[in-house]
Amino acid sequence: MPKIIPITCENKFSYNIIINDNFENLVRNINSIKSEKYDKICVFTDSNVAKAYIDDIVDRLSAEYNIVITYIMEPGEENKQLSVVEGLYEHLIGNHFTRKDLLIALGGGVVGDMCGFAAATYLRGIDFIQIPTTLLSQVDSSIGGKTGVDYLSYKNMIGAFHMPRLVYINLETLNSLPREQLSCGMGEVIKYGMIMDRDFYSWLASDGKKLDDLSREDIFHIVETSILCKKQVVEEDPREHGIRAHLNFGHTIGHAIEKLCDFKLYHGQCVAIGMVAALYLSMKSEADSGISDTDISDLRRILDIYGLYDCVPTEFSSLKASDIIDAMKSDKKADAGRIKFVILKEVGKADTYMDFNDSDYMAAINKVLP
Ligand code: GLY
Repeated sequence: MPKIIPITCENKFSYNIIINDNFENLVRNINSIKSEKYDKICVFTDSNVAKAYIDDIVDRLSAEYNIVITYIMEPGEENKQLSVVEGLYEHLIGNHFTRKDLLIALGGGVVGDMCGFAAATYLRGIDFIQIPTTLLSQVDSSIGGKTGVDYLSYKNMIGAFHMPRLVYINLETLNSLPREQLSCGMGEVIKYGMIMDRDFYSWLASDGKKLDDLSREDIFHIVETSILCKKQVVEEDPREHGIRAHLNFGHTIGHAIEKLCDFKLYHGQCVAIGMVAALYLSMKSEADSGISDTDISDLRRILDIYGLYDCVPTEFSSLKASDIIDAMKSDKKADAGRIKFVILKEVGKADTYMDFNDSDYMAAINKVLP
């Protein structure tokens, strides 16, 4: 450590992802983003993350930058709202922020997406960097420039593509992460294995692996390999015209469940349930599908290793397959109710399929309902 992974966009260097186990090199990395130094910095975070890291981060930045301010939101998906971004705009205006200044997202996916959206839209775009502090944000949401907020009850309905200028990961932040949050990130990690890296998937399932016993080397391998998977996809298709859609494996059904359970289940848990249902559908998509019942039982075993459900918990037993299908069809990614569904041709190889009908969905979803 540290490990540097450069990301390109349209064949040009875009930004570095740094994987480290401390914040020692943070300021040096910010200083080297561009030749001219930023005038002012605003650190955007939530009140939970602030308790753990804001003093340390602000002290480090203040040693080099004269004006370092903070803006702290209430945590949680329910606060991923335009009104919170408006509060941040007003804070930036009140502190005379210009395009020569920098926004920093310190926290998980909600903080990163919202801060990125503010950076994309304030003065038609200012620089921002990501300091992701959850596994999910380190392996997924901080990379690739998707930013946004929820609107009405639709997830990430309002947003923009806006690349960060740096992603700085301190793996030590994972040590204080609640277990469910670590599991949640593992949902996306397992997804990378399933859609594009069979060896990684086998490694995740290998003998003796347990969520609570992951070593520092294991965590490093998990984060680095996941980032390399995401890098490959976002470099090829930064704006999701094609292959980037494969990252939505498990998400079409997962998002619908997440919304119908009122966000009481973690995103990773919903994606896990969605992946199991998507495997049933993958089997159905072709007569000689490369997916078998053994693949489904293997996935269920891996989800169990990492503390993820493979079935909607019984407390949501009133959930009906038909409600899930309606929610899927009203998702922003559905085209006039037609869903581009991500399936697996085999473990490690994804594809999209447009021809499932309601009874196909019904059969698969019923396999994951209590
Ligand atoms: N999290 C999915 C994507 O970045 O495209």
